[in-house]
Amino acid sequence: MPTQKSLEQEARRILRANDRGGFTIPTAGLYPFQWLWDAGFTALGWMQFDEKRAWQELKTLFRGQWENGMLPHIVFHRPEATYFPGPERWGVARTPPTSAITQPPVVATFVRWMLERAQDRALAEAEAKSLYPHLLAYHRWFKRERDPDNTGLVTVLHPWETGADNSPAWDQPLARVAVDPALPPYTRRDTAHVDPSQRPHQAEYDRFLTLLEVYKRASFDQLRLLSVCPFRVASLLIDCVLHRANRDLLWLAQRLGFGHQAEIAGWLEASRKGIESLWEEEAGLYFNRDLISREPLRVGVSASFLPLYAGTASPERAERLGHTLQGWASQVRYLVPSTDPQSPFFEPQRYWRGPVWAVVNYLIALGFREYGHEQIAERIRQDTLKLCKVGGFSEYFHPLTGQGLGGRAFSWTAAIYLAWNGWGG
Ligand code: GLC
Repeated sequence: MPTQKSLEQEARRILRANDRGGFTIPTAGLYPFQWLWDAGFTALGWMQFDEKRAWQELKTLFRGQWENGMLPHIVFHRPEATYFPGPERWGVARTPPTSAITQPPVVATFVRWMLERAQDRALAEAEAKSLYPHLLAYHRWFKRERDPDNTGLVTVLHPWETGADNSPAWDQPLARVAVDPALPPYTRRDTAHVDPSQRPHQAEYDRFLTLLEVYKRASFDQLRLLSVCPFRVASLLIDCVLHRANRDLLWLAQRLGFGHQAEIAGWLEASRKGIESLWEEEAGLYFNRDLISREPLRVGVSASFLPLYAGTASPERAERLGHTLQGWASQVRYLVPSTDPQSPFFEPQRYWRGPVWAVVNYLIALGFREYGHEQIAERIRQDTLKLCKVGGFSEYFHPLTGQGLGGRAFSWTAAIYLAWNGWGG
C-alpha cells in the first residue's frame, strides 16, 4: 500500500504532468483543455508546493473571460483532436476559443483562501488585487443575465453548467428537450477513453448537443435564452457555490480596499432566501428545481448538502442533513455518493449518478465542519483520502468498492489530496 508521502509525491507528479504551460488539463486524452472549476481546485493543489504556478492557473483561466463578464466552462487554449465537442462545434469566435456556458463559480472563494494562506504575501496581494475586478465582472454577469428578476436563484441553461452533467436530477427537465432532427452528426470521443458503462447515456448526449444548437441559433444571447431555452433549472451546485463566492468577494472587496459592498450584500440577501426555498422538510434535504414547471426535482444528490458550504442553512437544517447523510452512509462504504443510494436512479459506476467525487466531498465536509459536525466532516475527509489510496487519483470512485473510475491521473483529485493534507480541514 502506498504511504501518504508517496501519494503526495504522485499527486504532485500528476499536476506537473498535466501542466500544459500556464494551465493544467484535467487528464490527458479525455479532457485536454482548461476547465473552469477544475482550474480552481487545481490551483489549491499547486498552492501546496508552487504558489506562483497556482496564481498562474487562475490568470490563464481568465484569458477566456468574455466582455460581458461570463467565464466560460472550457477555454480551448490550443487545438486538440481527442475531445468532442471542441471549438468548431461551439462556434464561438474568440481568441482563445471558448465554450459559451459557465460552471460552478468556485474561484472567488479559492482566491480568498489562497490570499489568507499564502507564504508569499506580496505575490498573493498583487495577484488577488488584479483578479478582483474580473471576479466582480463575472458575478455581476450572473446577476444581470441569469437572475434579472432578482429571484435569488440563478437560471442554469445546460446540465454541463452544473458540473454534474448526467445527474438524475436533470432527467426530467432534460426529457423535455426534443432532440433536434437536424442535429449535425457527431462522434463521441469520451467513450473511446473510458468504458461506456461509466459515462452518460447516448440519449443524454444528443440532448446536450441539441442545447448547443439552441444557443447558437440565439447567438448566445442570455436574456433571450432565459425564455427560449428548453432546459432551465435552479442548481444547488451553482447557487450554493455562488453564494459562498459572493461572501468571499465581499470579504475581498473589504480586504483589498474596493467599494461594491452594498451591491454584493444585496445579492447575498436574495440568494440566501432563494437557496433556503429549496429545502424539503419531509425529505430532510434540499432539492434542485425545474424553473419551467417550477417543481422540485425530487432526487437526493450530493449537492443537496451544499447549503452547508454556502452557510445559508439553519443549525436545525444542518442537523437534519447530518441525519440524512448517516442514512446514506449505512448503504455505501465510502461517502459521499453523488446520488442517494436508495434512489431508483442510483448507478454506482456511472459518472454523476452514484460515484463519489473528491471535489464535492471537499465542499460538503467543509460545510459540516463549519456547522460543528466534526465527526461527519472527518469521516468524509478520511473516506476521500482512502479512496485515493485504494482507487488511485481517479476522476471518480465506486462508493461500494472504492474502485477508481473514469479518467486516470486526474488533476482535481490529486489537488484535493494535496490540499487536504497540506491545509488540513
Ligand atoms: C466532466 C465533469 C465536470 C468537469 C469536467 C472536467 O465534464 O462532469 O464537472 O469539470 O469533466 O473534469
